[in-house]
Amino acid sequence: MSDTTTRDADTDTDTGTGAAPDASGLGTVITTAYSDALAEVYDDIYPGSTEIADYLSTIAEPGASVLELGVGTGRVALPLADAGFEVHGIDTSEGMLARLAEKDPEGRITPVLGDLARLDLGRTFDVVLAPFNVLCCAMAVDEQIALMHAVARHTAPGGHVVIETFDPSDYHVQRKSAITTRPAGGRGVVIESLEVLPASQNMLLNSTLFLDGGAPVSSSTVMRYLWPSELDLLAAIARLELADRYSGWQEQPFDGGDSRKMCVSVFRPLA
Ligand SMILES: C[S@@+](CC[C@H](N)C(=O)[O-])C[C@H]1O[C@@H](n2cnc3c(N)ncnc32)[C@H](O)[C@@H]1O
Repeated sequence: MSDTTTRDADTDTDTGTGAAPDASGLGTVITTAYSDALAEVYDDIYPGSTEIADYLSTIAEPGASVLELGVGTGRVALPLADAGFEVHGIDTSEGMLARLAEKDPEGRITPVLGDLARLDLGRTFDVVLAPFNVLCCAMAVDEQIALMHAVARHTAPGGHVVIETFDPSDYHVQRKSAITTRPAGGRGVVIESLEVLPASQNMLLNSTLFLDGGAPVSSSTVMRYLWPSELDLLAAIARLELADRYSGWQEQPFDGGDSRKMCVSVFRPLA
């Protein structure tokens, strides 16, 4: 299991968080175990794409600094580096960061092994990017508020905060487990079951990996979904203002009410 201090993954140097030692909780422990279990096949399940890098190139200058929250295996971060951004990525999963290191032998991404619940890198970035629902990994509302405050603190004046979530309207009324099967490259399949607890807005995701003809391996995680309007409220509490909202990285219009729709929200710090 990962250490919960924030530190550079290459040098193993504690960067100092100033946060209480118990600031991270059960959610982080569950998420870390889940990510470590999936790291080996993550890229087979979720192929890389340049669409986020292409979008960020429309709002930030070449060479701008980007902090990716939950950098994982670099699915997003490596195309960002290809596009000329200075990329830093934090993740709590040693397994995910090990895969990233394999894919980035030149060390173009600055990896940080650490917990978003204790995010304190002592500097700001031109863009703070939270792709692929990572904000929902904070499994309680107070954790989500704390994370938005930390995001705002890490955003340079005039910078951008870019957050990808989904509209949870359909999930919120889901009463039965939903089962999804995903191919894992040539290695097998991952079967996911998703249960929703609408009162707390939590989702319980269980993944079972059937790989290489071996015994199945199961792992679970918990998320807390949030509506776009709730995201705006969290942002306002952290003194961030909505600038744009889309249902995709090609700036497709967002009209809400459909959980198949992504929600890409762009915030700017209030002066
Ligand atoms: C769905 S993956 C996304 C990875 C990558 N951003 C992408 O789009 O492919 C979410 C990542 O966030 C990380 N993560 C979740 N909760 C975290 C936390 N509290 N602190 C740091 N990283 C976290 C997970 O380990 C995982 O690598």
